Amino acid sequence: MKRIFSGVQPTGDLHLGNYLGAIRNWVRLQDDYDCLFCVVDMHAITVWQDPAQLTASTREVAAAMLAAGVDPARHIIFNQSQVSGHAELAWILNCVARLGWLNRMTQFKEKAGKHRENASVGLYAYPNLMAADILLYKATHVPVGEDQKQHLELARDIAQKFNSDTGVDLFPIVEPLIFGTATRVMSLRDGTAKMSKSDPSGYSRINMTDSADDIAKKIRKAKTDPEPLPESPAGFEGRPEAANLMGIYAALSDTTIDDVCSRFGGGQFSAFKQDLSDLAVSVLDPIDTEMRRLLADTAYVDGVLRQGAERARALAAPVLREVQDTIGFLHP
Ligand code: AMP
Ligand code: TRP
Repeated sequence: MKRIFSGVQPTGDLHLGNYLGAIRNWVRLQDDYDCLFCVVDMHAITVWQDPAQLTASTREVAAAMLAAGVDPARHIIFNQSQVSGHAELAWILNCVARLGWLNRMTQFKEKAGKHRENASVGLYAYPNLMAADILLYKATHVPVGEDQKQHLELARDIAQKFNSDTGVDLFPIVEPLIFGTATRVMSLRDGTAKMSKSDPSGYSRINMTDSADDIAKKIRKAKTDPEPLPESPAGFEGRPEAANLMGIYAALSDTTIDDVCSRFGGGQFSAFKQDLSDLAVSVLDPIDTEMRRLLADTAYVDGVLRQGAERARALAAPVLREVQDTIGFLHP
């Protein structure tokens, strides 16, 4: 059986990178896999979260998954903290992963910055919890954006070490699914920096809930260069902003970068930006409308998460028991 697990943190507004790099791909994979899509609230608290905001963001991410087209009847949508097996398996995997492995994680280095001594232990152990998320369900495939590749390699190393330490072929070796033309959407203010929820500038990202006016304004103000648009991807050399905006266009219109270059190459940014913002609005606006409709009914969204968690617990229970037996834990 092919099973997918993926997650998004409820830590602020979802943006175009989350949509194109992750959520849209999930929607496209749901016919071929059994899927678990998780709002990873336990990962979120590795840095401080305002409690009321965390609750609101958890519902918002769930609503975004639903609005983008994930089917909660066929697949599981839930928030991580409702299934205690994540924390239980994470502890066991904390004892499998090596300090040296975690020390190499670039996301920790970026997030902890100069204040490493002051970062939470949870932020450091974050990738072990992520491995637990996936392995708790013996998921085989994990669709994510490019930035999560290193964490998935770590999950593979952890699974392999657990299997070889115990001599039991318990965990599958997970395959990352990183595909599409927008696996790494960059900031609108700087084509060399990832579009991210934590960028202090709101103009750096397009949020899934931005109004048509906001989207137009942000794209109009997006950084460019003085040259005409390149006629082929070879012309992206040294022009990260052109590469990013044309890549976004390709992803939103479901065409290739080559197509976008042949259509807009030689033209000016100003005309292209107008087309890009119309396109972005046409894709995001219906999702935003549906999200708002869903969020007006928190009882419905909470019900989806509760039922999802129940189904997730049923899938996790036998795996957790198998792990406990394998390492010699007595259990009920
Ligand atoms: P996060 O916002 O860190 O919870 O990420 C949720 C999902 O969105 C993960 O699969 C990320 O890899 C993906 N993602 C986040 N930012 C970007 C980006 N700028 N471009 C493409 N994918 C992204
Ligand atoms: N770390 C991922 C991110 O920030 C979110 C995540 C947590 C995840 N657990 C996961 C993604 C398991 C895939 C599988 O983007």
